[in-house]
Amino acid sequence: MTKKASSSSKETDSKPDNDKFVWTRKDLVGLDELSAEEIVHILDTAQSFQEVSTRSIKKVPALRGKVVALLFFEDSTRTRMSFELAASRLSADTVFLSGKGSSTSKGETTLDTVRNVEAMGVDAFVIRHSQSGAPHLLQDKVNVPIINAGDGQHEHPTQALLDIFTIRQKLGTLEGVRVAIVGDIAHSRVARSNILGLKKLGAEVVVVGPPTLVPSTITAMGCEVSNSLDDILDQVDVINMLRIQFERFASNLFPSVREYSSLFGMNSKRLAKCRKNVLIMHPGPINRGVELTSDVADGPNSCILQQVTNGLAVRMAVLYLVSRGRE
Ligand code: CP
Repeated sequence: MTKKASSSSKETDSKPDNDKFVWTRKDLVGLDELSAEEIVHILDTAQSFQEVSTRSIKKVPALRGKVVALLFFEDSTRTRMSFELAASRLSADTVFLSGKGSSTSKGETTLDTVRNVEAMGVDAFVIRHSQSGAPHLLQDKVNVPIINAGDGQHEHPTQALLDIFTIRQKLGTLEGVRVAIVGDIAHSRVARSNILGLKKLGAEVVVVGPPTLVPSTITAMGCEVSNSLDDILDQVDVINMLRIQFERFASNLFPSVREYSSLFGMNSKRLAKCRKNVLIMHPGPINRGVELTSDVADGPNSCILQQVTNGLAVRMAVLYLVSRGRE
């Protein structure tokens, strides 16, 4: 399902070479609606853009004159900064609005906020929102592209794209690769988008966690379920450790963090039982000592910072495709 990317952009190029595929979508709100071909096209476009970050002048003029509005109604470090940097590397200007300090505190709705910012003449929105489905509600109500930067417990498409990009970069393919996604599956938009994307590209997915954090309905997405991390350690090529999202818990879903960590935390003892070149991933932010110990997070099997680096190229690709791909 995956294919090698086309040759990288030349020094003066403003757009990637791999443009036989015609991008038709105005928005990127989730991986649910994307075909395998569209996902591969984003990955290939990202691969073309990777080279830009190695130049002494890290910029191409692809989106010169465009304005990207970053609306973050929920906290973020990685997603916000990499979208901001991605827009800058494409020569777009950015404006930023956070939930805190905006007129939403006076009762303005998200739709009114977005319409008002659109009226100022922006060319694309990147939106993070605590409400699942918020970007989907907005996409038909504004004329410019909407990119979902994470909506509630629903989807985080660019995180999954950068995770999948990293796996393809490290292993050369997604076809037949076995990926474990471990932890708080119930509250995780990262898990949901990863499962959707990985399955479309031919990977096998096993979700792992305590029964209270793994909804039984998840099997409908085509993945296996295990309630024992120890049982799957030597059966997978990739282990993606998820953060426990305490802020989304309505009640305690396991007896203690200590017990959770002893059963579902990745540590050097467990790593020794894994396949030799297993990839250890985490979307961030990490709770060190809970999902994984520092020696694993910073060790040779970890590609956590590589994920962050790749996020920049993936977000450049997404911004480029929704803004210019249809031209
Ligand atoms: N992975 C992720 O979405 O991180 P941030 O919340 O810091 O953006």
